[in-house]
Amino acid sequence: MIFEDKQITLKDGKTAILKSPCVEDAEKLLSYIKKSCGETEYLARYPEEWNITVAQEEAWVNRLRSSPDTLAITCYVDGEVAGNCEISFRGGMKTSHRATIAIAILKDYWNLGIGSAMFEELVAAAQNRGTEIMELEFIEGNDRAMHLYEKFGFRVVSEKPNAFKLKDGTYRNEFYMQKYLREI
Ligand SMILES: CC(C)(COP(=O)(O)OP(=O)(O)OC[C@H]1O[C@@H](n2cnc3c(N)ncnc32)[C@H](O)[C@@H]1OP(=O)(O)O)[C@@H](O)C(=O)NCCC(=O)NCCS
Repeated sequence: MIFEDKQITLKDGKTAILKSPCVEDAEKLLSYIKKSCGETEYLARYPEEWNITVAQEEAWVNRLRSSPDTLAITCYVDGEVAGNCEISFRGGMKTSHRATIAIAILKDYWNLGIGSAMFEELVAAAQNRGTEIMELEFIEGNDRAMHLYEKFGFRVVSEKPNAFKLKDGTYRNEFYMQKYLREI
């Protein structure tokens, strides 16, 4: 799916552009995801687990853009990738009422309102699609993310104990949140 470019103003007064990831930016997108995974414990992978080539990343961007069931939105600030988010609309007759969200923004751009701007677009996309339940998961301790998700009406409905094991040998629980777009 393609997201029509949208300009937003960040909390520091700078301008940012929300747009679909472009295949020409595959290398930048790969650097961005590796960097994000090194900046926080709250993403599911370590940077070294992103051992894909630029050509594979290009193929992934092409798949995203042509997929009828996934919308990705990248935030660019001064031409650089600041963050990305995705909503995946589930297929299957029994699960197509659900859509799953993922988001990661680089540390230099946290708390500037990018996450909130992206969530507004993701909720609007889910509403347009007729999605009934939006869902996401986050790792215990990610208070900034939880604040953002609760602000947009998501509520924790279950917890998966010890879902992640970090390099230091400690474990983290994972929380599953839902937002209902209609009463069930
Ligand atoms: C979590 C994340 C997506 C939020 O995006 P963001 O652009 O920083 O979000 P915003 O600036 O729109 O909003 C952040 C909100 O959290 C609040 N906040 C900041 N630090 C906080 C903290 N430690 N505890 C609670 N709330 C906090 C801010 O005040 C702001 O609230 P407001 O909108 O009510 O004023 C982003 O920080 C990020 O990508 N983090 C690393 C990767 C990650 O955790 N991804 C999510 C995996 S589930």
